[in-house]
Amino acid sequence: MLATKTQFVCQECGAAQPKWHGRCPSCSAWGSMVEEAQRPAGRRGAAVAGNGGRRPQPLAEVEAVRHDRLPSGIEEFDRVLGGGLVPGSLVLIGGDPGIGKSTLTTMALARLATRQSVLLVCGEESPAQVRMRAERIGGAGRIGVVAETDLEVVCQTLVQEQPAVAVIDSIQTLWANDLSSAPGSVAQVREAAGRLLRVAKEHGITVVLVGHVTKDGTVAGPRVLEHLVDVVLLFEGDRTGDLRVLRAAKNRFGSTAEIGVFEMTATGLAAVGDPSALLGRGDLGGPGSVVACAVEGTRPLLLEVQALVAPSELPMPRRLATGVDRNRLAMILAVLQRHAELPLGSADVFVNVAGGVDVHEPAADLAIALAIASAQRGLPTGPLVAFGEIGLTGRLRAVPQAERRLREAQRLGLTHALAPGGTLGVAGTSLRTAQTVAEAIAVTLPAGP
Ligand code: TYD
Ligand code: MG
Repeated sequence: MLATKTQFVCQECGAAQPKWHGRCPSCSAWGSMVEEAQRPAGRRGAAVAGNGGRRPQPLAEVEAVRHDRLPSGIEEFDRVLGGGLVPGSLVLIGGDPGIGKSTLTTMALARLATRQSVLLVCGEESPAQVRMRAERIGGAGRIGVVAETDLEVVCQTLVQEQPAVAVIDSIQTLWANDLSSAPGSVAQVREAAGRLLRVAKEHGITVVLVGHVTKDGTVAGPRVLEHLVDVVLLFEGDRTGDLRVLRAAKNRFGSTAEIGVFEMTATGLAAVGDPSALLGRGDLGGPGSVVACAVEGTRPLLLEVQALVAPSELPMPRRLATGVDRNRLAMILAVLQRHAELPLGSADVFVNVAGGVDVHEPAADLAIALAIASAQRGLPTGPLVAFGEIGLTGRLRAVPQAERRLREAQRLGLTHALAPGGTLGVAGTSLRTAQTVAEAIAVTLPAGP
């Protein structure tokens, strides 16, 4: 058998080497060499004749492609996609193992199969396992299944079967036999996505890639594909809880602001039309608990922020955050110490957003700060929604869409609110405002003994 040549290319400087090196001999970067199939050597440096080029076409004459979308019928999924799958697009769904990627894609295929031909390529599970899942979900009898991990065979199957939508579960199991790297490595994952992209575009097949991603996103997978695919959806949530949030990290055909909220049930994922209502299950407003209101896409979402402050026995106290960016938490802690004189220097601080949802909006700053202050003093703020951005000087900045946030809180029975000065209130809500973090703490947590 003729072995296809591969080479190792440094991802930092582009130098190609015949062998793998832990450190690039050219630019000395560590761990940057990735195997790639060797392309026929171009005539680099040869004089350009100028007769093989192409004529530019005025943009106005370019045929506009209308995206007739394929709605999956799962409302929360379609919303995040921007109205449904676009034919011929490459979509990547990333998320931790066990979060529900296979469940979501199987459900979408089951719905699509009533109108289109669909194909499921399963490399991770046997068709029997897929069938068991499909039976829990129901209505999946029409899905065509192929158990295959050889990239070449998968591409040929797609071309031969011409399904409207194909799901590859997962991209990490595919391997191209002309690369010696193991399946799941950066080289293999990128090669597979590149070839599938060509098949998708040439044949108008929508290809959905399932990819595992670890929390830090370093493992080969979704991160190295982001620039290649049209849409990147991330599935987040607390695997031990029921709430799942689907978010678009990139979308060439729609907004990235929308989120889809699901609940894992015994019969698959159920849409949660009113995610804020899930909050009511807990006991709100105790010490260390404050409700934030984030606006995700077109929907406001109430989230409970919980904090725990405990004396530390470590020289470097711990600062742990779930659902909140660590750097943002570090900033808020520094502001609390410096501008609100909160003694946190020798305390462990834990912050958690209930339900496993990630908050990305600075509007959540104030709720985080109040939750920490409340935990530190051991005093409750009482049921209260708080939103506002905290600046490095300790001043609060007003955030957009205050009215919608207040109404959402009101709808769920929270009629007390705290927001930065300048925020306009709404009828029926008692709104207090503050100019600084210190003032916000003073008005909600009257000084203890
Ligand atoms: P799965 O979709 O296999 O996750 P992934 O493909 O992201 O690794 O499912 C994850 C979990 O969901 C699994 O532990 C079983 C559970 N589950 C349910 O609770 N109900 C269901 O109907 C299904 C299909 C799965
Ligand atoms: Mg799976």
